[in-house]
Amino acid sequence: MSFKSNFLWGGATAANQCEGGFDADGRGLANVDVMPVGPERLAIMTGHHKMLDFEENYFYPAKQAIDMYHEYKKDIALFAEMGFKVYRLSIAWTRIFPNGDELEPNEKGLLFYENLFNECHKYGIEPLVTITHFDCPMYLIKKYNGWRNRKMVGFYERLCRVLFTRYKKQVKYWLTFNEINMLFHGSFMSSGLYFDPGENELAIKYQAAHHQLVASALATKIGHEINPDNQIGCMLAGGDYYPNTCNPEDVWAAIKSNHENYFFIDVQAKGEYPYYALQELKNNNIKLDIADGDVELLKANTVDFVSFSYYSSRVAAGEKNAAEKTDGNVFASVRNPYLEVTEWGWQIDPLGFRITINQIYDRYNKPLFVVENGLGAIDTPDKNGYVADDYRIDYLRSHIQAMKDAVNEDGVDIMGYTTWGCIDLVSAGTGEMKKRYGFIYVDRDNEGNGSLKRTKKKSFDWYKKVISSNGEDL
Ligand code: BG6
Repeated sequence: MSFKSNFLWGGATAANQCEGGFDADGRGLANVDVMPVGPERLAIMTGHHKMLDFEENYFYPAKQAIDMYHEYKKDIALFAEMGFKVYRLSIAWTRIFPNGDELEPNEKGLLFYENLFNECHKYGIEPLVTITHFDCPMYLIKKYNGWRNRKMVGFYERLCRVLFTRYKKQVKYWLTFNEINMLFHGSFMSSGLYFDPGENELAIKYQAAHHQLVASALATKIGHEINPDNQIGCMLAGGDYYPNTCNPEDVWAAIKSNHENYFFIDVQAKGEYPYYALQELKNNNIKLDIADGDVELLKANTVDFVSFSYYSSRVAAGEKNAAEKTDGNVFASVRNPYLEVTEWGWQIDPLGFRITINQIYDRYNKPLFVVENGLGAIDTPDKNGYVADDYRIDYLRSHIQAMKDAVNEDGVDIMGYTTWGCIDLVSAGTGEMKKRYGFIYVDRDNEGNGSLKRTKKKSFDWYKKVISSNGEDL
């Protein structure tokens, strides 16, 4: 036996990438809704092209997505058929508080998730809930400047109190912010921040980061107060940086990149700002607004477990060493000549998964939860609509094997594993539908055409076998 008998196998999604129903039952508008498909997406995502509402001549895939808002019962039944023990999903903040600063929540939004959680429990599936997966109410962005403003901590706290109280009997696994380190890279997409020309972006990002870190610690505190059984985790966009060569300049560049990556989790898991971040603030003349009590709050409310996504390792090179770049989660990486890449240029590195798992465990010594991993690929259904996705099975098999090695050979404590996009959904990076991760094919294309019909892929039966054998039969 390698994985624990209660190992949580399952899949993961995010509200804005699958629910659709963008204005159903009183839902308000969020940053993640106004991300169109097309060449402007990257500049919008990073906060350098302002898009604060729907504009003509753009296609916004999140508006309908795969319509899980209406289809969730059927989709959860399919997850149950695969034997899921856990389903990771996120709450759309604007279903609960359409503007974000209301005093009372929207009952219809609350009811939607209550029903969804009941549906999970019907099949013995434990929900793992991401409180915010990149979303931020547009109203809060326009009126308060979003996470630049300290008031956001209070709005987020109100959301958390409502969720922890209402779902006390239904949910015990929570994540405070999805890929919190994405704030530094996809600032608008992940946190609703955009920048005017000439602004000090680094200072704005650090101040917003401080607000999110305080909000996360507060969520951990009240989550434990409301239900001591709650297990609350942080969430990192993972993937360690290798040095491009053994040139010390490259090694130093890799250390710096890893520091930037781990900064948020260092605070959430260790309870204080790491020395390198304090020095970076000093070096850049950034004076953070830290309120009375923040330092103590961060210290006293560290997370119960550390969760992360892993798609790829990354490579860093010293400034003087020119190196070819490749794509991957908005994080720049030097191209690693030892690795194959996906159709989107993401490097495939199962051993890098084991390396990343070990680095994180070594750094925090807390239980780990792998909450995203998978292959985004183009699937071509045959004439019966069937997708024989052996390439996806190969990717997942090699990564699960690497995770197994981390458990068996290295002694890492891992609570569970949820593949990303267990059902095809909208890509966060590109807004495309054709970048598919699922075990379940959804008939919808990049332009929004298609019947939305769900069809099991070959990987569906494969993953079912993996789960029923608790990871023994890959
Ligand atoms: C992670 C996000 O960055 O990677 C997900 O948490 C995202 O929201 C996933 O979908 C895969 O990225 P992409 O760009 O292929 O959708």
